[in-house]
Amino acid sequence: MTVDSVGQHYDRLAELDQAAAGRAIHMGCWDEDGQGTLEQAMDRHTDLVLARTGLRAGERLLDVGCGYGQPALRAAREHGIHATGITNSAAQQEIAERIARQQPSDVAARSRFDFGDAARLPYPDACFDAAWAIESLLHMPDLGAVLAGIHRVLVPGGRLVIADVVQYRTMPDELRQLWRRLLVSEPHDAHAFTDMLEAAGFEVVGTEDLTARTRHSWQALAESFQRFSAPLPTERSGGDVETGPVRERLAQMAAALPRLDAAFGDCLGYVLVEAGR
Ligand SMILES: C[S@@+](CC[C@H](N)C(=O)[O-])C[C@H]1O[C@@H](n2cnc3c(N)ncnc32)[C@H](O)[C@@H]1O
Repeated sequence: MTVDSVGQHYDRLAELDQAAAGRAIHMGCWDEDGQGTLEQAMDRHTDLVLARTGLRAGERLLDVGCGYGQPALRAAREHGIHATGITNSAAQQEIAERIARQQPSDVAARSRFDFGDAARLPYPDACFDAAWAIESLLHMPDLGAVLAGIHRVLVPGGRLVIADVVQYRTMPDELRQLWRRLLVSEPHDAHAFTDMLEAAGFEVVGTEDLTARTRHSWQALAESFQRFSAPLPTERSGGDVETGPVRERLAQMAAALPRLDAAFGDCLGYVLVEAGR
């Protein structure tokens, strides 16, 4: 797993522009009854993370590993936040910027998306009131450098909220290979976030285990991947050959998700960690 290979993985997924781009790329947070759509559960998850940042209208958010920018745009649109996202996928950055420019002018003015490596944040010291990293740190082996950079760009008292899959205990080899092959990542150990946050100068102010509330996402994601992996009408008539391999990859991911579901609550889980600078 390198910064470039992760970026290329997301560039390839973005080839599915028409179907998938613009969506959040994270787990949903479900109520006990498991009702509602994946999109509603994803928005609930984003709102939960945003609430933990303590941000108010007019304040500045850094979204570390911003995907297509959907969570940051939600913060800008629904809550009046000034949102900056950074991603190491050039394709995602382009799509996020395009979607931002299609928003009402005040929302567009409050949002921006940059291409870059989270381990080398291209921002001045103390220029954000809060930051979040939603399912992006699992792609970043150099967690120490990333957290130190986030610490540098936050104002004193600023919050960082991490939402991510973690390993409660070491995954079996076969599961590790699956993560590496299909999801270009390896979740960090459950205690790594708290240990490394403190080493980077943060104070951990809260942790919450969201394993039970996010678990239903595996099934919902499998259904969604299956939909996206079906050929588009243009492909069936031979019009678009380029997305074929990407669709195969999505089908492979859909097939692997029940395996991840089975490991959830066993060696894998999901945490929300809140830290103050
Ligand atoms: C699972 S997606 C989550 C996207 C977004 N947070 C969301 O919730 O929709 C992981 C994101 O992390 C980004 N990422 C991974 N490694 C990165 C790095 N070293 N620097 C910047 N972004 C990175 C990927 O490009 C992708 O946008």
